[in-house]
Amino acid sequence: MFTETTARGGAHAAAAVRALEPGDATAILGEMLAAFERGECDGMERYQVEHAAERLAPNPGSCAVAVVDGRLAGWVIPADDDLKVVPAFRRRGIGRLLVGAGRGLAAAAGRDRLRLWVPRRPDAEAFATACGMRYTSSLWQMRMGREAMDAVGDPAFPRSVTLRALRVGRDEEAFVALVNRVFADHPSPIELSVAETRRVNASPAFDPTAVLIAEDASSGVMVAFCRVHPFTAAGGTPSGEIRLLGVDRGWRGQGLGRAVTSWGIAELRRRGARSAVLAVEGENASALRLYSDLGFRFGFEWPHWTVAAGADAP
Ligand SMILES: CC(C)(COP(=O)(O)OP(=O)(O)OC[C@H]1O[C@@H](n2cnc3c(N)ncnc32)[C@H](O)[C@@H]1OP(=O)(O)O)[C@@H](O)C(=O)NCCC(=O)NCCS
Repeated sequence: MFTETTARGGAHAAAAVRALEPGDATAILGEMLAAFERGECDGMERYQVEHAAERLAPNPGSCAVAVVDGRLAGWVIPADDDLKVVPAFRRRGIGRLLVGAGRGLAAAAGRDRLRLWVPRRPDAEAFATACGMRYTSSLWQMRMGREAMDAVGDPAFPRSVTLRALRVGRDEEAFVALVNRVFADHPSPIELSVAETRRVNASPAFDPTAVLIAEDASSGVMVAFCRVHPFTAAGGTPSGEIRLLGVDRGWRGQGLGRAVTSWGIAELRRRGARSAVLAVEGENASALRLYSDLGFRFGFEWPHWTVAAGADAP
């Protein structure tokens, strides 16, 4: 997919940037966990790092890697806003090469822009600026402690919907179509594929009762969803994430968003979570209002910078 590109050499060996190959995912997981231990994945939980690595092998087109002398030197995963260079290979032009590869991957995925998470640190911001990127918006992690979770009432759904858990092997097409519709004009668009969703749902670890589906009571058409994910936070505290939630356009403004979010909090509470987190785009004013109204408070900020997608020079 990529033509081999060489970083400026000096005393160093040349770097090649190429598409993901079998075997890379294991090396990337190792380096991702090392970055996590160094504190370079602020705001992320260990299971999120592991999930990001697990998604790579089945989706080889989602990632480009930099290799020096057969060793993994860095990677870019545009769909996860992630670009990292392994410490031993920094300041050799590899990050810049990976931004170029990421712009190509983003264009190939039909996106206008490459978007990356750039921590609020002078080195990361200097790098992004040098690569022609600009700050665009921030994704916020919002948190709620157990006391606030206990104060959230049981979900009140309108009579026009019926509720059920996800049906593995039967719901994937309708579910993916709804999620993609809901997030189509979102500031940070999510695009699921049916094949990938089928793969995830078929895994033994997948719990269909962690996904609530609300259907139009008269037609049976799916109109809203909420997916929760319990996890153990650092220090061993049982916690949980509201991972994905949305309401179809024609069904907004009837309290369904509040109801599915309250369901998520109640479900995490029922599963023993002492705190709940979710991620929300800072420009999504209506979602921010709903979440803060329910008792979520700002936790962590992930600033996002972007540059035009494409194979030309930025
Ligand atoms: C930020 C990061 C990706 C840079 O990778 P890199 O391969 O060292 O970057 P490059 O060598 O391609 O640097 C390109 C330019 O960015 C700027 N830059 C890079 N690192 C810098 C630093 N530590 N301090 C100041 N400027 C820096 C420089 O202008 C550099 O050009 P120069 O070396 O000719 O002066 C790497 O340090 C990293 O992985 N950090 C941790 C993860 C992270 O912050 N990711 C977000 C990146 S979007």
